[in-house]
Amino acid sequence: MKAVIFEKPGSVEVLKYCEFPKPNPQNGEALIRVKACGLNRLDIWLREGKRGIPLPHILGSDVAGVIEEINGASTLKIGQEVVINPAIPCGNCSRCKSGEACELVIIFGAKTKGGYAEYVTAPLAQVYPKPKNLSFVEAAAFPLTFLTAWHMLVGRANLKEGETVFIWGASGGLGSSAVQIAKYLGAKVIAAAKSNEDAVGIRKIGADHTVVYTKENVVDAVKKLTKGIGIDVVFESIGEKTWSTTLAMLRPFGRVVIAGTTSGDTGTQDLSDVYVRQLSIFGARMGTKKEFEKVLELMNSGKLKPIIDKAYPLAQAAEAQRRMEEYKHLGKIVLEI
Ligand SMILES: NC(=O)c1ccc[n+]([C@@H]2O[C@H](COP(=O)([O-])OP(=O)(O)OC[C@H]3O[C@@H](n4cnc5c(N)ncnc54)[C@H](OP(=O)(O)O)[C@@H]3O)[C@@H](O)[C@H]2O)c1
Ligand SMILES: [Zn+2]
Repeated sequence: MKAVIFEKPGSVEVLKYCEFPKPNPQNGEALIRVKACGLNRLDIWLREGKRGIPLPHILGSDVAGVIEEINGASTLKIGQEVVINPAIPCGNCSRCKSGEACELVIIFGAKTKGGYAEYVTAPLAQVYPKPKNLSFVEAAAFPLTFLTAWHMLVGRANLKEGETVFIWGASGGLGSSAVQIAKYLGAKVIAAAKSNEDAVGIRKIGADHTVVYTKENVVDAVKKLTKGIGIDVVFESIGEKTWSTTLAMLRPFGRVVIAGTTSGDTGTQDLSDVYVRQLSIFGARMGTKKEFEKVLELMNSGKLKPIIDKAYPLAQAAEAQRRMEEYKHLGKIVLEI
């Protein structure tokens, strides 16, 4: 089959479009002909060698395609259009056994070979019918980010109707999903944008207000927008560059939920501020099967919709990743296979 692989870590130049052996579905797996695969920033971390995976590797955590073979018992059918839930729970830890988020969850396309290819195999339990109202490109643009954003806002931060949420990285895959989910939950959404042009696009996705963080003092702008009250929940995935601002904009008893550190891992903070203002900090990684099924249901009913930035053919995966590295995207970049 044709695939985009890399044999050593490095810049986009290490990505190679070539022939690679077609995988065989093991017992309990489906063979899926990939029609589209969404990009995530994780792909860049993996390609750069930041997550230590066996090489050669095929990236791609967000897959939409058609079932070609089924090895094992399943209600799914050959020829069925499907998406993959990329959060693969271990099934054995105490949290898995009580239906909570797995502490050892592995990510499809990171610890398994992913969808930058004509075919993938996936555990049958991770495979779901594709929402009929979505194209393959759209269906490959929601699983990982909407699942994570749902887990962050609902599962971890317990965002409530009428609360105010501040979303960093709202032009990105994760942040643009969060804007929609927060609006669906009935929250007031203030989102960060790097430019006036992005701000317009982010408001179109649903943000009530935007703050252009490259030009404005974010804490002052937020204070004004919340009439001096501050933010109930900050949605974080930027880390080092934004952490102090994040804490400064919270109201007493405010919550931060963090799932990434795009700008760097090290944040400093005045710890006395955490207890004096009684703040809560939640970490989040992927989400549960139940949460994925909820997101899928909301996609099926059209209440949530993937935001597509641009689609590229598989052979142009390097170009697609470059667009992400240069932060030119608004929404999801997707490969069409
Ligand atoms: N824990 C999990 O399960 C999980 C799941 C999904 C993603 N993540 C993590 O979440 C992060 C986002 O992933 P993604 O796929 O959504 O990536 P993405 O599409 O590239 O989005 C990243 C966003 O970060 C913003 N950004 C970068 N530097 C910034 C800075 N200095 N200040 C403010 N904003 C900045 C950019 O917004 P502007 O263009 O507006 O600057 C961009 O939209 C990554 O670190 C990823 O690893 C974690
Ligand atoms: Zn587990």
